[in-house]
Amino acid sequence: MTTAALLLLQAVAAIAGAGLWLAAGFTAGSAADRRTRSERMTVLALAAGGTLALLAAAVLTALLAGRGWWFAGEKVTVGIPFQIVGLAAGAVGFVWWLRDIRMPLARALMLGGGYAMAAGVLATWLVGYPPQPTAAGVLLAAVLLATGLTWALLAHRGRRAVVGFAGLIAVLLVGGLGWSWLSDMAAPSIEATGGHGHDAATPGGEAAIPVTDLRTPDDAPGDVHAVALTAARHEVTLASGDTIEAWGFGGDGVAGPELRVTEGELVEVTLENRDIDDGVTLHWHGYDVPNGEDGVAGVTQDSVAPGDRFTYRFTADQPGTYWYHTHQAASEGVRRGLYGMLVVEPRNGVAESLDLALPVHRIGGEVVIGATDGPQSFEAAAGDTVRLRVANTEQTPIRVTIAGAPFRVAAIDGRDIEGGAEVEQRSVRLGAGARADLVFTMPATGVRFETDLSEASVVDIAPAGGTVAADLPREVTDVPELDLLAYGSGARPDIGPFTAEGELVLDRMPRFLGGAPTYAYTVNGEVFPHVAPIEVREGDVVKITVANRGFDVHPMHVHGHHVLVLSRDGVAATGAPLWLDTVDVRPGEVWELALVADNPGIWMDHCHDLAHAAQGMMMTLAYDGVTTPFEHAGAHGNRPE
Ligand code: C2O
Ligand code: CU
Repeated sequence: MTTAALLLLQAVAAIAGAGLWLAAGFTAGSAADRRTRSERMTVLALAAGGTLALLAAAVLTALLAGRGWWFAGEKVTVGIPFQIVGLAAGAVGFVWWLRDIRMPLARALMLGGGYAMAAGVLATWLVGYPPQPTAAGVLLAAVLLATGLTWALLAHRGRRAVVGFAGLIAVLLVGGLGWSWLSDMAAPSIEATGGHGHDAATPGGEAAIPVTDLRTPDDAPGDVHAVALTAARHEVTLASGDTIEAWGFGGDGVAGPELRVTEGELVEVTLENRDIDDGVTLHWHGYDVPNGEDGVAGVTQDSVAPGDRFTYRFTADQPGTYWYHTHQAASEGVRRGLYGMLVVEPRNGVAESLDLALPVHRIGGEVVIGATDGPQSFEAAAGDTVRLRVANTEQTPIRVTIAGAPFRVAAIDGRDIEGGAEVEQRSVRLGAGARADLVFTMPATGVRFETDLSEASVVDIAPAGGTVAADLPREVTDVPELDLLAYGSGARPDIGPFTAEGELVLDRMPRFLGGAPTYAYTVNGEVFPHVAPIEVREGDVVKITVANRGFDVHPMHVHGHHVLVLSRDGVAATGAPLWLDTVDVRPGEVWELALVADNPGIWMDHCHDLAHAAQGMMMTLAYDGVTTPFEHAGAHGNRPE
């Protein structure tokens, strides 16, 4: 059974247990003459059913612990103790009720037991992982007070007792909310504090370096490849005939201009904001630039306001497929079109004769591949080689395939994959933000690039004068996914022993976010900018473990670095070394990754489902001694998500 299914079943069993015991408490009448045989049987059945459900929940919790402590920690340390105490109280209450002694207290105990069991369920949702003692304490106090209130009502203890308990409950609620609100107001934690998560023996004490010093040097070598990009609102007429207002970086279509540069060049991009009121930046997704060129509003620069400019410079020394996008309120900006492709061609040119960069996006209800929606076609002669550089610029995973020819995955996330065999009738799954280079040799008949997002938006490639057979079956939704962890060959690079580590437990929990109560996306129980950073020093080899406790897919993206995949769900990666900048972590999955800290800075590390990022799922990878003068929110309205 998958871990996600176990998580769901455990929750259902624990909820059923609490619900049945509460029902038993409510059903147990107070007056002796109403305790008919059938009423006793009903209460007994409810209590027994509730107890069995809790036992099942405990067994499921044990199975979850086997999958990893991340999935069971708070259930074992908080949930089960609450359930045990609840069962004990409920059982005493039930026996007293049967024997007709201490009646109001008997029923209060049955109901209070139910409250404790319900709190045990809530622990998963409110206490989370790693378990937060304060939240557990608030839950315990709430159970005791609610039980007291129930007893005061059942025992007719009078207005004062009832009002007293109700008042204390109100105080507790306000206090709990206030505490949660205060933690949202606390100072952001995006810089390294020194020493955290580190082998204590490593010496510290470097002088502070602001991110503004971490720019490409003025005298960096290379022929300058200058580009100007203007962010502006514009109207786009889709192939469907609809005209939509898009935001873009120029060009007629939805995506911004494709930037194609050659290895060895010095890329200089001047960004101007014409009329995007919220501001824009340029982030080079997957391209490991110096930190000050990374384009994160509020972390590496201020957002560029209408009328303002910012120039980015970086050396084209990492051939491959990347993309660029705004990193200011990106969940809206990228969705509306503030993105484009960045291709760094190798010094000796691209080996394939046809080379297309294909960002896959959705806007105005249409799927846009490249600059436009609807079918598109290109020509290639039989025997020619073709490279399709596919980028998922969407928020959710996509599957893509090539129908009509065997293909090979030549690169993922801008890094070549060695020794990958040709495959046929396989789809390649790309998490949000990820890229794949698909390479094939043109057969004598037409070939079709398809995605699972749309039957209409496809890219056909056919020999001159030819077309793609109308009866080419749609494959992408039917064929199995290629497992990239077992694809290709090659020894794992020797990156040395680990000297630091980081753990990211992904979840969804109620939290205050920017002052508003939100059902937020959390990392280690916190939301940005309060998630403690992964702290490193230059030269560290960092082991990063990501566990997804939630029921959403989280494409985790780290800036400025690639991570080497070590394992997924305890199964080691066996194919070619897989270096990713975006790791698509499905519900219940655990990934172990290695990162070589060779690019000092304060780097965002976040979910690339940008709506999740905007709802808290962001943190930083922070090098000791690096500081930022830029602020989240504040006068520039920076929104790093
Ligand atoms: Cu593609 Cu932080 O983003
Ligand atoms: Cu996410």
